[in-house]
Amino acid sequence: MKILVTGGAGYIGSHTVILLIESGYDVVIFDNFSNSSKESVARVENIVQKKIPLIKGDIRNKEDVENIFKAHNIDAVIHFAGLKAVGESVEQPLRYYDNNIYGTLVLCEVMQKYGCKSIVFSSSATVYGDPLSTPITESFPCSATNPYGRSKLFIEEMLQDLYTSDKAWKIVLLRYFNPIGAHESGTIGEDPNGIPNNLMPYITQTAVGKLSCLGVFGDDYDTHDGTGVRDYIHVVDLAEGHIKALEVIDTLEEVLTVNLGTGIGYSVLDMVKAFEEASGKEVPFCIAPRRAGDIAKCYADPSYAKEVLQWEAKKNIVQMCEDSWRWQQNNPNGYKGS
Ligand code: NAD
Ligand code: UD1
Repeated sequence: MKILVTGGAGYIGSHTVILLIESGYDVVIFDNFSNSSKESVARVENIVQKKIPLIKGDIRNKEDVENIFKAHNIDAVIHFAGLKAVGESVEQPLRYYDNNIYGTLVLCEVMQKYGCKSIVFSSSATVYGDPLSTPITESFPCSATNPYGRSKLFIEEMLQDLYTSDKAWKIVLLRYFNPIGAHESGTIGEDPNGIPNNLMPYITQTAVGKLSCLGVFGDDYDTHDGTGVRDYIHVVDLAEGHIKALEVIDTLEEVLTVNLGTGIGYSVLDMVKAFEEASGKEVPFCIAPRRAGDIAKCYADPSYAKEVLQWEAKKNIVQMCEDSWRWQQNNPNGYKGS
């Protein structure tokens, strides 16, 4: 089976490509490198000891996308390509709608034209907005509070409409919780541009000395220690969820929507402590004001994933912290150092 991986040079895509190849799939990577570099793919090739077809192009460019389908017999698409920074999406909404929504539209048009109707889409727990309670099941109401989240929600609806119009489409919507960690080799990992927005890269860059102090955004939430609680999931577990999705995709008789999380919520202070224990490094922090748009608690009910995908997260918080740290220590400047 040949899988097109859009955004395959990125953080989650690169880890998924490894598992795809290890599971016997043929892979074609398509990426415009707007938030990644060829170096990640070179390192993936080194891990799997195999050359991987890599095409530079943009999902919004129909000709670029058609050229892949002309050159390769693609059976299914795993669609990671997208912009993902919440704050940036508030400043540049049109760029987010263009890249994420229009890009997915073009991709689906080309898939339809070439008779490839199987797609696994990277959605996000952000589509649950501020949930009424936790743990969150897939049937919770959806809402969006920023353009990034709205782009995910709209794409989910667009794909649902596509299925309604043509039942030959096989669609899996994977709602990721908070991916962290890295491949155990320490050669690939998350490489954010500039100062990180997300917690784990901020912690690792503080521990390695690039940043001086972690600001903990609020200590007066209704949680066990007052700091925000999230469902952190190892990126390799997350990647495995995509392999499981491909295993069931041909059997689907409706759009399948699944949470990929661990079901365990850790607070910011829990994460600092776990990281310090795993790395032996101190993470200086200070309490800062709440970040606009943040919620108190977000963690998954992962039982549906177990039922329909026979998937559950296996790696614990210690492994997540150790692997994040190994990547950061070996690559203090991410891929840019090479
Ligand atoms: P990433 O930025 O590392 O990877 C995305 C890849 O897509 C990058 O390599 C980028 O260059 C590429 N890309 C972006 N726009 C493109 C375009 N128009 N044409 C071709 N390639 C393009 O991000 P990631 O963390 O690996 O996330 C992958 C997907 O998962 C994204 O859709 C993201 O929204 C979603 N997601 C991520 C998280 C997270 O915390 N990382 C959480 C929930 C959902
Ligand atoms: C963010 C995005 C969300 C996206 C998710 C996964 C926002 C508002 N939301 O969620 O849409 O789906 O990433 O990519 O950006 N924290 C600190 N100090 C920091 C950074 C974070 O205290 O320097 C806290 C946050 O307040 C939060 C927790 O750490 O409680 C996790 O934050 P983060 O890693 O940014 O993820 P989310 O806020 O869950």
